Amino acid sequence: MILAIESSCDDSSVALYDIKNLRLIYHKKISQDAEHSSFGGVVPELAARLHTKALPELLNEVKPYFGEIRAVAVTNEPGLSVSLVGGVAMAKSLSVALNVPLIAVNHLAGHIYSLFLDSEITLPLGVLLVSGGHTMVLEISNDKSVKILAKTSDDSFGESFDKVAKMLNLGYPGGAVVQEFALKSKRKDRFKLPIPLLGDKRLEYSFSGLKNAVRLVVEGLGDFSDDDVADICYAFENAACAHIMDKLKRIFDERKFANFGVVGGASANLNLRSQISTLCDKHGSKLLLAPLSFCADNAAMIARAGREKYLKGEFITHQNLQISPRSSEILI
Ligand code: KG4
Ligand code: ZN
Repeated sequence: MILAIESSCDDSSVALYDIKNLRLIYHKKISQDAEHSSFGGVVPELAARLHTKALPELLNEVKPYFGEIRAVAVTNEPGLSVSLVGGVAMAKSLSVALNVPLIAVNHLAGHIYSLFLDSEITLPLGVLLVSGGHTMVLEISNDKSVKILAKTSDDSFGESFDKVAKMLNLGYPGGAVVQEFALKSKRKDRFKLPIPLLGDKRLEYSFSGLKNAVRLVVEGLGDFSDDDVADICYAFENAACAHIMDKLKRIFDERKFANFGVVGGASANLNLRSQISTLCDKHGSKLLLAPLSFCADNAAMIARAGREKYLKGEFITHQNLQISPRSSEILI
């Protein structure tokens, strides 16, 4: 088995994965949502402290399997440095204690493998990655080369939900609660928010202008009721999804995707899922979605990505295993 550790942001997670049978043996995560909620976002020092407490608790649960572990995989980029360091330190200690090799996993590659938790990867593949830290469209060819077709130049899709939630005092993270309020809107045409970069030919995402447009609406209202919140959430979610779809439609017009996957925490958004499903139907692309419980950060996807590296013998020495807040080239 591979033992995998994920601690790149505010979720501490450990997984055990059966290398040969592509099967998840154990998976658990301890989320820090409640602790960060009142701050409206992740507080790095608090996240680091909570990882220090949660990771050993999770490790304790997998102790009975220690004899069967063949490698330790860990997220080493991208993410919050103070969070990554906790998982990487634990992975290094475990690799020494169990005398097994180390595998460094890129968090974004992990999200892509969330589509294939119990199967081999299907190529070629287009991917929309929407999370709290990233928004990008990728094309993965048969030879596993990864090309970035579009990415955000400022905020990410998920982050914009978090910021809107903060403005509306809805806590953190904002994705699910904004989606829930949007569904309750009684006046769907009340607020007209701009769809970012509409008509602009650049294949690029940008959410900061939309976020500011929401800010102006909120400030204009002063006090706001639940009905106001619902109408704002509806207008915002629609504009944010319309922006994703506008660029995605252009990409689909230019390329043919046999398979198209949507990954990352924000891929749980039902409005987005349904619009992408329609787009895939129109273009004859097979839509791949991760199970809802594995969209957000988790160690299962890190284990799955680590399994590919294990089979290729792509191990890393203790000295070379460094953390990085930024992503290097995504290798599948
Ligand atoms: O992948 P993830 O767990 O962490 C990062 O790698 O960033 O993604 C978390 C992000 C948060 O910004 C959260 O608000 C967003 O995913 N999210 C959603 C939804 N559920 C989670 N965004 C929009 N709609 C949702 N239903
Ligand atoms: Zn993530």
